[in-house]
Amino acid sequence: MSEAPGIVVAITGASGALYAVRTLAALLAEGCRVELVVSDFGRRLLRDELGEEAAVDRLGAWLEGKYGEAVRRGTLQVYSNRDLGAPIASGSHGSRGMAIVPCSMKTLAGVANGLSRSLVERAADVMLKEQRRLVIVPRETPMSLPQLRNLVLCAEAGAMVLPAMPAFYQQPKSLDDLADFMAGKILSALGFDHALYPMWTGSV
Ligand SMILES: Cc1cc2nc3c(=O)[nH]c(=O)nc-3n(C[C@H](O)[C@H](O)[C@H](O)COP(=O)(O)O)c2cc1C
Repeated sequence: MSEAPGIVVAITGASGALYAVRTLAALLAEGCRVELVVSDFGRRLLRDELGEEAAVDRLGAWLEGKYGEAVRRGTLQVYSNRDLGAPIASGSHGSRGMAIVPCSMKTLAGVANGLSRSLVERAADVMLKEQRRLVIVPRETPMSLPQLRNLVLCAEAGAMVLPAMPAFYQQPKSLDDLADFMAGKILSALGFDHALYPMWTGSV
């Protein structure tokens, strides 16, 4: 039996916690070994936008409550953002790819410039140096010139910049529909088939 794919997910302090949890649930339902690292502001984001019950130490149960027991097909391992000795800090650790969702402009700047100050930044640096898939989901508006330049630096280094810009052609009825769309885009970028939103067929 082939080993479950390992995917790193980072949550940082930009608005859009719903995108992060939908992505986590979808990866878990795919049977992934998800390695999660959440910055201090990412932890605050989960509580502020989703409530205390979605705090990192209760996230597994919260995901199952919202998205159902399919999330049990995968495993969720949480690392401290200060643990620069965690397995995902090394290129020899076999993760297939990584998504930073949502990605703050601060973390974007750190990744763009290879700073590796935190586990989020180091794990992203590992993805770039090992030429594995790194999906960056930035959220800020409007954007300054330094922020735009940092996006270009990441794209030039091989990352996929996948802005938190849900579409409306699928006629979303709820915030969950918008989150499904973004999570679906992220799963596609990481190489997974999914049914999170209807594929475009040429007309609505
Ligand atoms: C309520 C709140 C909302 C924020 N929203 C954003 C945002 O959408 N985009 C962003 O780049 N930063 C945002 N920030 C600022 C970041 O959280 C801040 O720059 C932080 O230092 C990011 O650190 P991190 O990347 O380690 O999570 C927000 C902060 C707060 C408190």
